Amino acid sequence: MQIPMPLKNKLAKALDINSIRLDFPILSQKVNDLPLVYLDNAATTQKPIKVINRITEYLSFQNSTVRRGAYSLSEKSTALFNEARQKVAKFINAKQNSEIVFTKGCTEAINLIANSYGGSVFKPNDEIIITAMEHHANIVPWQLICEKTQAKLKIAPINELGELNLIELEKLINPKTRFLSLCHISNVLGTINPLKKIIDLAHKHKIPVLIDGSQAAPHELIDVQDLDCDFYAFSGHKVYATTGIGVLYGKLKHLEQMPPYQAGGDMIEKVSFEKTTYAAPPSKFEAGTPPIMEVIALGEALDYITNLGLENIKAYEHSLLKYAENQLAKLVPEVTIIGQATEKASLISFVIDSIHPHDIGTILDQEFGVAVRVGHHCAQPLMNILKVPATARASFAFYNTKEEIDILIKGLKRVIEIFKY
Ligand SMILES: Cc1ncc(COP(=O)(O)O)c(C=O)c1O
Repeated sequence: MQIPMPLKNKLAKALDINSIRLDFPILSQKVNDLPLVYLDNAATTQKPIKVINRITEYLSFQNSTVRRGAYSLSEKSTALFNEARQKVAKFINAKQNSEIVFTKGCTEAINLIANSYGGSVFKPNDEIIITAMEHHANIVPWQLICEKTQAKLKIAPINELGELNLIELEKLINPKTRFLSLCHISNVLGTINPLKKIIDLAHKHKIPVLIDGSQAAPHELIDVQDLDCDFYAFSGHKVYATTGIGVLYGKLKHLEQMPPYQAGGDMIEKVSFEKTTYAAPPSKFEAGTPPIMEVIALGEALDYITNLGLENIKAYEHSLLKYAENQLAKLVPEVTIIGQATEKASLISFVIDSIHPHDIGTILDQEFGVAVRVGHHCAQPLMNILKVPATARASFAFYNTKEEIDILIKGLKRVIEIFKY
């Protein structure tokens, strides 16, 4: 199936979705005797065969530790590991490889910054700003470090469309503000935040900014130099690689100043019982044997999506979003879409009048083979603001099709029929 190019983006090349789908073995399986319609890509993405094969090849023929072995297998493994770091640096346009720290996920990356940067810089009554649309991963680490340092957490509000209220955000900034941490894209609302504007504003006041890029890395071309963010974090499993691996980008000047987050092998320069000195970044933040296979698989996954072209992925996913929104509009008033930002990524949260999202999810799964996420999406404070206990969320990847959205819509009609009449 050749997907026509959206008029909005004439530079984007049409993706051959049928052939892309063949790259993902999981997509051809049946669940409940129905073809799987996987629409939970914001939670985790499926893996292309190239990534799966790369893991098999690594474990079958190249498995060995890195950085330490004076033998050929370890040298090979070390070279592959370093090459993957270079691929990550290129993927987000970091200035140098040493600005890429491997963590076990976006959550750990944020915890690292909260503890290492926050723990060494924040003082009582300092203020840290996050936004109302954050995932728990970008809330709780700041609460913990605020408890320890007696800094205060401030929350930038959103408007009724689910966009960040920039005027209110600016009002929160004052001489006590020490840090700003916010998502690139909301995992509930789909809102794409105007990062350049926000980062410029923060930097005018000399406030460093961390971007939680979990929901953006699979969909957006990321250029950390152009954004000028101080830190950027994302997870491997959301960019078609495995769990157990995440990326923390940090400007070298910060990484050099920050104390270690965890201690052990590999992060040291010299150890004695009297005194230990630390390795330069990124090793300083990578204590212990790293997730070698996961790092190499991440490099392979980034190659895969780079070959498809992030601009092509974005254009196609945008066409899926618009199609789904138009189809869902036909189910109004029963269906309410949560999050109507002008700039939106390819995910839609919705509720159906008086039907619990868990019931929506169960019927879609059991009767239609459709996998959507239901619940609070690890964003309970946002749910409270939205005054809903939970939503259903369909999130699209480049391997999804309009036909799959049609099945989702058919399923939702059935849900409404069962519960309403
Ligand atoms: C916006 C956002 N931030 C952070 C995370 C945490 O990512 P992980 O669980 O992979 O560390 C997620 C995961 O869904 C997310 O959507």
